Amino acid sequence: MSSKDTILRLLEENRGRYLSGNELSEQLGISRTAVWKAVRQLEEEGYTVLAVNKKGYQLAEDCDILSSQSIRPFLRRPELYPDIQVHKLLESTNKTAKELANHGASGGTVVLAEQQSGGRGRLGRSFYSPSGAGIYMTVLLRPTEPAETTMLITSAAAVAVCRALKAVCGLEAQIKWVNDVYLDGRKLCGILTEAAVNFEDHRMDYLIIGIGINVTNGDFPPELREAAISLEEKLGRRLPRSPLIGELLNQLSEIDLSQKQFLEEYRARSFVLGSYVNVISPTGTERALAVNINDQGHLLIRLDNGTEKALSSGEISIRKV
Ligand code: BTN
Repeated sequence: MSSKDTILRLLEENRGRYLSGNELSEQLGISRTAVWKAVRQLEEEGYTVLAVNKKGYQLAEDCDILSSQSIRPFLRRPELYPDIQVHKLLESTNKTAKELANHGASGGTVVLAEQQSGGRGRLGRSFYSPSGAGIYMTVLLRPTEPAETTMLITSAAAVAVCRALKAVCGLEAQIKWVNDVYLDGRKLCGILTEAAVNFEDHRMDYLIIGIGINVTNGDFPPELREAAISLEEKLGRRLPRSPLIGELLNQLSEIDLSQKQFLEEYRARSFVLGSYVNVISPTGTERALAVNINDQGHLLIRLDNGTEKALSSGEISIRKV
């Protein structure tokens, strides 16, 4: 690791306190001038480093540039995420994660981008991903459990997002089946999971969980202004992204899919259970009551004629009426 990267790691790990030039030069075994040069390099890359005589250096509170170094200090089990990549611009972190998976990347690889030029949503929709305004992240997993168990990962990811929001920002979010996270009736986060199944042994070759969270409104286009919300709008302040990303990765790894307990929380946080919804599928739209979510993560609905159906995510979307 270069001196610049080590200094970045130390500054990230010691946010809120000054590290003296002496301390840094001793830890790295380099001169104070070399420390100063590395700090200058970080500034050239856009970091705001406060430098105060006789105190030393620290990152400015509002400096929110993502890096592996900025996220790692928040991981309870960093060994689970051996490769955290942060890119300035990608078409889609899901697309890059799939390419990495096809080239043998290991489970626990995390791909983040400051901006996506072609962020993808469910059902062929796009996901608005302007620079620095959100968390655009994909986690690659190599599950060993049977495919039926792994299918629940989408629901588990939505619960993990809610738990991380509660732990880091004190917010109680809701889940709109199948995997949107809502605050105050507006969408905060979308999740797009994709998988490659090995037909020989019915196991998944890889699974990718793409998570997009609106951190600032970043000039939402008119069609999103009413329907979407950001953390900045809800909290009235800009939230640094790394602690939330770290906690989200912790929560993701701590959910035990085989236990299914997380489904209780999924149901309790449901935005639709007990309400009438329009079920929109390629064959048309029908009104139904959202009755329950079963242990497979399917939404049980009751049509006006009394028929009950279990919906799996597939091609279907629902709208509360
Ligand atoms: C949806 O709302 O339908 C799902 C949105 C998923 C967006 C995330 S952002 C990170 C990852 N990369 C993508 O292209 N999509 C997901």
